[in-house]
Amino acid sequence: MTTYSKNMFESDLVKYYDVMHSHRNYSQECQFANNLIQKYCPGSKRVLDIGCGTGEHAIKMAQLGYEVTGIDMSQDMIKFAKEKAKRAGVSVDLRCTDIHDRDIVREFQAAYCLGYTFLYMTTYSEAMGFLMAVNKALLPQGIFLVDFIDGWSLIEGLPQDKFVYQHEGTTIFHFEQASLDKKRRVKHIDFYYLIDQHDGNVKTIFAEEDLRIFFDDEIHMLLSDCSFENIKSFGNYSLDTDALDTSNIIVVAAQKRGQNKG
Ligand SMILES: C[S@@+](CC[C@H](N)C(=O)[O-])C[C@H]1O[C@@H](n2cnc3c(N)ncnc32)[C@H](O)[C@@H]1O
Repeated sequence: MTTYSKNMFESDLVKYYDVMHSHRNYSQECQFANNLIQKYCPGSKRVLDIGCGTGEHAIKMAQLGYEVTGIDMSQDMIKFAKEKAKRAGVSVDLRCTDIHDRDIVREFQAAYCLGYTFLYMTTYSEAMGFLMAVNKALLPQGIFLVDFIDGWSLIEGLPQDKFVYQHEGTTIFHFEQASLDKKRRVKHIDFYYLIDQHDGNVKTIFAEEDLRIFFDDEIHMLLSDCSFENIKSFGNYSLDTDALDTSNIIVVAAQKRGQNKG
């Protein structure tokens, strides 16, 4: 059977998302987010997880004592995240919605958007719309953390790659082919998956995505234009400033301008 999915977050791939991201250290990412949130805004409790996906950060942040609201525009991701939170015995407010939802206003002391979700904002206008919506969701002086793959790493990355994952008796073959659209400053990636459940059926899924090639100074400029201040970059989910020079992954922290009325 063959399916085509424009968006890999709304397909049969959702149940394999965690196994395909098992190389990531979510505990370290959450510990880093916790350290930064408490450094910028001591005592913060209410946090917004934007593009929460399968809920890995949301669950771990709740376990660290936060009141977490996780939003994701994919119904499949939210369903999966809710099942995981239930299994973990953790209370997280998980909503299938977009960051542009007008109900999300000035509620949060902190917000984060991790897993390079920001790279899906492929134009300045989308990126600014997204950052302005985040700004609106935060209380004055609230902190926002956003991670992205450094533009040079995207440009210099391999044009082709392949991976194999094993999950509960299923083998997932992952092939990808990338090309650069220099005019749009976008990396286009075609994904091709073979899912072999070893029962005689092999499922084929095609998906694709566009990732914007962003550089650190552009992200600072966009954040500043969207009413953020105290903007700082960190490498690889580490507070060690040396890590920034060698890291492919950059996390930018910024604070919403305005007076905190307590
Ligand atoms: C690459 S995944 C990251 C998931 C998770 N944060 C992680 O680190 O594993 C990106 C997620 O963001 C969601 N997403 C993208 N744009 C969004 C938006 N504007 N509002 C809410 N969710 C969004 C997608 O549906 C997808 O689940």
